[in-house]
Amino acid sequence: MRKRKIREGIYFLGAPDWERRLFDSLIPLPYGTSYNAYLIEGREKTVLLDTVDPSKREILLAQLEGVERIDYIVSHHAEQDHSGCIPDVLDLYRGSRVITTPAGRTMLMDLLRIPADRIQTVTDGETLPLGGRTLEFIYTPWVHWPETMSTYLKEERILFSCDFFGSHLATSRLYAGEEGDLAYREAKVYYATIMMPYHRTIAKNLEKLKGYEIEVIAPSHGPLYETPSEILERYREWVSGRTKDTVLLPYVSMHGSTKLMVEYLTAFLAERGIEVRRYDLTVSDPGSIATDLVDAKTMVIGSPVILGGLHPHVAGLLYIVNLLRPKLEFLSFVGSYGWASRVMEQVRGMVPNLKVEFLEPVLSKGLPGEKEIEDLKGLAERIHERHKQTLEV
Ligand code: FEO
Repeated sequence: MRKRKIREGIYFLGAPDWERRLFDSLIPLPYGTSYNAYLIEGREKTVLLDTVDPSKREILLAQLEGVERIDYIVSHHAEQDHSGCIPDVLDLYRGSRVITTPAGRTMLMDLLRIPADRIQTVTDGETLPLGGRTLEFIYTPWVHWPETMSTYLKEERILFSCDFFGSHLATSRLYAGEEGDLAYREAKVYYATIMMPYHRTIAKNLEKLKGYEIEVIAPSHGPLYETPSEILERYREWVSGRTKDTVLLPYVSMHGSTKLMVEYLTAFLAERGIEVRRYDLTVSDPGSIATDLVDAKTMVIGSPVILGGLHPHVAGLLYIVNLLRPKLEFLSFVGSYGWASRVMEQVRGMVPNLKVEFLEPVLSKGLPGEKEIEDLKGLAERIHERHKQTLEV
């Protein structure tokens, strides 16, 4: 793909990665992804904002053909999908220097062995005149690592935000509005999987951006936002303390007993008007579950007892949920066992990061009978009551 003009002297570079299906060796990418870089020409200085994943090096280098000078490479984020080709660009433009945060400098030296004398750090709010154009560097930590920053191009009012507001979406289109709701849905998956644990810091970053008039947001994954208010509004909702009248119900069943319990619970919750987001963990992806965790008020885990403990798929999910630190308020458990069960203790021990109220679990020795079905109804009723109380607050 050739570089594309956004404004006179401002170009969109980089590459869609149509075929990539996994990020961080964990998160499924049903729509691929893209690595966006941007070129800004001032009267005196030319700047490249980020590079691309090393797998797309040739595309970036081809896009730079005919670009006679690059004075600075702004590295918003040291992760290799954006920084991985900085060494190539430094080799190509011998007089160029990298601009980053102090934390970014250390990371670039550690991860890519970039020489210290080719890196210059900037402070929060520092400006860089290019001749007729001015860049302002805004520290936006934890989007998604601690060193991250964004760049505001003052004259054109464009915010270059790197992972912040990004989406894993390979597309030939330039703007999110051309994608319908898809870009926003994928932006939520992206937020859920890499930024949710830091939602308080991200809320502060959003507050900080209120001081800037932004006409376009240009992230480093997925399309640009020509109507920034839409994505800003969604982010504000995701980082808010609000949760929805929703129960996330991930489960595994081996011989059908736990699944039957999940069926009853789903029906009892639905009868009470509660939305249920249910996932069979043998066929579900962690990206979808993480996305539902952005809003869900309650999670009920379903697992049979296997070898005296939780099913490994359930244990794996709890590990991820604990890392993601969602806003969940209530947690419970349903499941079957054969002769002994202490799984609730295991569940509690696996989620120390969650500030949740544990609701009485429902355990069934073998197939659920009348008592267990009544208990499941009782659990649905307790969830309904607790949701009503907390939604009314
Ligand atoms: Fe797209 Fe955190 O790198």
